[in-house]
Amino acid sequence: MGQFKSYKTLTGGLIVLILVFYLMMSWPEPMNRWIPPPHRASKHASEPNNWDSLPQELTNLTSLLYWPPTGGDKDDFLASTSPRTSTYRLKGPAQTNYTLGSNLEAILVARDHKGRPKTHGGDLFRAQLLGQELKAGVPGEVKDLENGTYLLSFPLLWAGPAQVQVRLIHSSEVVRVLQRVWKGKRATVDFRGYFRGRDGTQETVICNVDPQSTGAQGPTCQYRDVVSGELWFCAQPSTLPCDALVGHSSGSYLKVTTRHDEELMAGSVTDQPLPSGISPILVTPAAIGNMSDVALPSRPPCRPGHLSPKPSGFYYQDRWHSTFCSSRSFPTVSSILNCLAGRIVYMMGDSTLRQWWEYLRDTVPSLKPVDLHVQYQAGPLMAVDTTRGTVLHWRAHSWPLRSRRTPVASLHSVARVLHGLAGGPYTVVVLGMGAHFTTFPPSIFARRLAGIREAVKALLDREPSTLVVIKLANTGYKSVYGSDWLTIQVNRFLRAAFDGLQVAFVDAWEMTSSLAVPDDIHPKRLIVRNEVELFLSFICPT
Ligand SMILES: *[C@@H]1O[C@H](CO)[C@@H](O)[C@H](O)[C@H]1NC(C)=O
Ligand SMILES: *[C@@H]1O[C@H](CO)[C@@H](O)[C@H](O)[C@H]1NC(C)=O
Ligand SMILES: *[C@@H]1O[C@H](CO)[C@@H](O)[C@H](O)[C@H]1NC(C)=O
Ligand SMILES: *[C@@H]1O[C@H](CO)[C@@H](O)[C@H](O)[C@H]1NC(C)=O
Repeated sequence: MGQFKSYKTLTGGLIVLILVFYLMMSWPEPMNRWIPPPHRASKHASEPNNWDSLPQELTNLTSLLYWPPTGGDKDDFLASTSPRTSTYRLKGPAQTNYTLGSNLEAILVARDHKGRPKTHGGDLFRAQLLGQELKAGVPGEVKDLENGTYLLSFPLLWAGPAQVQVRLIHSSEVVRVLQRVWKGKRATVDFRGYFRGRDGTQETVICNVDPQSTGAQGPTCQYRDVVSGELWFCAQPSTLPCDALVGHSSGSYLKVTTRHDEELMAGSVTDQPLPSGISPILVTPAAIGNMSDVALPSRPPCRPGHLSPKPSGFYYQDRWHSTFCSSRSFPTVSSILNCLAGRIVYMMGDSTLRQWWEYLRDTVPSLKPVDLHVQYQAGPLMAVDTTRGTVLHWRAHSWPLRSRRTPVASLHSVARVLHGLAGGPYTVVVLGMGAHFTTFPPSIFARRLAGIREAVKALLDREPSTLVVIKLANTGYKSVYGSDWLTIQVNRFLRAAFDGLQVAFVDAWEMTSSLAVPDDIHPKRLIVRNEVELFLSFICPT
């Protein structure tokens, strides 16, 4: 611990300065290269991912990450978009009744704190249609007209009362800050690497996704996964060799904002409702005699292979109904068990995916968690039902995991694990990543996903009956380190990366932004239950 402290004293105060300095420089080759031996022999050892293997859309980050212009830099808080003066109203004349299955449209005018209409777009608004009595909700579409006005559109998918609600998540001025930080070629958090020598000597250094962000003034250690090519860097410890790295944990949140940025992101203007601009409406069934309460066309069973439309579903009576496939409910323990019988499920990702594992463990008493003496946030976790032959794994994705101290040997590359799976009709893979990648430039996640896409494609090529499910990242954070705006970009990456592959998507973004509950990076049980039931619908479509 003494060494840790002295190291911090040495570099702690300087780190921001060093990072800024390194921004001006190109990536030098790390002076010390260390390639860890493979954990097991693999025929799939391949060269580092190259951009050619990326789907076309993912290579063109400019086009993938398009966001409307956010106006020029002004140092004037009062000129930023305000949730109190911005308003919305119906696009057409008010109707007494609205027909089930039709659309409600509204126009939103963004204004600054002095009530002056904005002349550019780029604000992040979130619109919802809620039916609280019916425990119903659906995300509205927000189309940025790029002149300070926005077109809101809500599909009317249930019969009964409904109410529009709009919130300003971030002003365009905040989006500008987030863009600047995100694309600024630097990490906004760092990590700790714990080294231990044979004689018990210990050292702690800073680690990160690139050599500069380790703050190292001397050599760095490079860790490259021989199968996936994924890279990780640590400042080289002063006395121990690079291969003495045994532990990993989160480090610090780096200071990346100015006082003006922080004023723009203040809680009083972040994730705040706009004054209500549309009276509650009543939606009535389309035809006399048609007593259906929801507008659901006949839908095919839930199978992998297509991107979900928007909206991908809606809540009604606390149940998520997919708009593109006949999502099922699994009301009893035995219905879940029957669906999972004989399956081996590999969940890999972050703690929002661990919630699925925990939900199943807590809901199905015969799924017994196996005590692997795991006391680490990285897992692995396992639950088994021996009579039904069900195995449920969860493991964290590898670096850049933000976690308490965890053994480096427990951090497994997702791509590498996928390359080691035989696959088949009883193998289910679930990937749920994103939340830990918002603190780095976009290229970091793009490169990681390129390797994972390649591994998923290879798995599906050798065993097309393998089910691969992608959980999109959900709403939650509102800071410069993790913000819904950043998560929107991360989800664009996820969609683009798996576009064209036979994988299933669970749009957790929409499922966490359709109800009148506060955003939470770890959503409440009702939402997790619906995510898991959609997931089970892909395993057992009929
Ligand atoms: C990338 O997308 C942008 C914006 O759509 C377009 O102008 C540009 O030509 C594209 N570049 C490539 C290489 O496709
Ligand atoms: C509107 O809905 C109410 C309640 O369902 C019904 O009594 C009324 O006839 C409807 N009016 C029109 C114009 O459809
Ligand atoms: C904004 O753009 C839309 C679409 O082009 C247009 O219909 C509307 O009149 C414009 N509004 C303002 C205030 O310029
Ligand atoms: C009843 O209305 C729903 C929603 O508009 C529609 O999808 C369904 O096909 C209709 N059923 C019949 C029998 O007309």
